[in-house]
Amino acid sequence: MNIYSVRMRAADETGHHLSGMERLVLDDDIAKTVQELYQRAWHNHPHDVHITIEKIDQEITQVPVLRIRSGIPNKSPKSLVRTQARQILLDAQIQSDVIDYAFSLLDRGPAASGGNMRGAVLLTKHSGRRLEPDKDRGVRTVRVDVHPKDRDRLHRALVQQGFPHPRTQDALILATKTLWAGVIAELGWSDDPDYTTGFVATKGTYWRFEGIKEAGVNLGGRIYFVEEDEDTAELMNRLQQIPIWVMVSTEFAKNEGEHAYE
Ligand code: COA
Ligand code: AMP
Repeated sequence: MNIYSVRMRAADETGHHLSGMERLVLDDDIAKTVQELYQRAWHNHPHDVHITIEKIDQEITQVPVLRIRSGIPNKSPKSLVRTQARQILLDAQIQSDVIDYAFSLLDRGPAASGGNMRGAVLLTKHSGRRLEPDKDRGVRTVRVDVHPKDRDRLHRALVQQGFPHPRTQDALILATKTLWAGVIAELGWSDDPDYTTGFVATKGTYWRFEGIKEAGVNLGGRIYFVEEDEDTAELMNRLQQIPIWVMVSTEFAKNEGEHAYE
């Protein structure tokens, strides 16, 4: 059996990115997967849709999914939500002024030319230096999916734990690979003005924060906090090239425990 990366990206008539999705599947499932991705793209009324089917020539590394927690009860004020997100980043040894800078980048749009980037910022944890070579593009986490045998199990476990939104599952999978690659912590929220939930992922946990930004704001992005002496080329290679299957442990599937920030 061969394994393939099947990727979809959809854009509007100006070339603006609307949606993207990736699956790592066995060759028997390619046709079904193309159909699924095409349907997903169609929701956004795209002008053009690109589907890439690429054989994976390497062994796929298997990585356990991050555990998921709610950062704060629903409908908390934005300032309180951000205080808790900040605290988790402080606990991960990110410098306080670097955290402030990260929030300000996402609030104003982190691209060098202003607005949203096409990937993530790489930010050093103490001096707050940006390491990504292209500050409009950033770095993307790709070649990652949940293992096909765990796809339904992950969906069921997330619904059971109170996280039914498909965006949460997608972001959890991406963050699992991002931390595996050596990123210390990740802060992110969507640029979709209708979606105000963001997250912090670090030390094996993905913290979900509702109301981290105001509704109606069309700016967002992702910040990857990294070591001061990080080898940027090596890290980018891991994030973009090494294929990862995210696995669901029995413990994760059963976990219905306390999900609030303690
Ligand atoms: N945001 C903005 N623009 C994007 C983009 C994104 N996420 N992904 C691709 N593009 C656009 C860019 O213009 C890009 O050019 P660039 O490299 O100069 O930025 C161009 O499309 C080509 O990108 P490429 O990297 O070749 O696309 P790809 O065919 O490899 O697909 C995606 C990448 C779309 C799969 C990936 O970006 C993505 O969205 N992944 C999400 C995966 C996901 O949700 N996984 C959950 C697993 S269940
Ligand atoms: P989204 O959560 O999909 O709305 O994306 C929010 C922002 O995250 C985008 O504007 C990009 O800057 C960034 N981003 C999107 N996809 C990726 C990815 N695969 N890897 C890293 N950053 C991404």
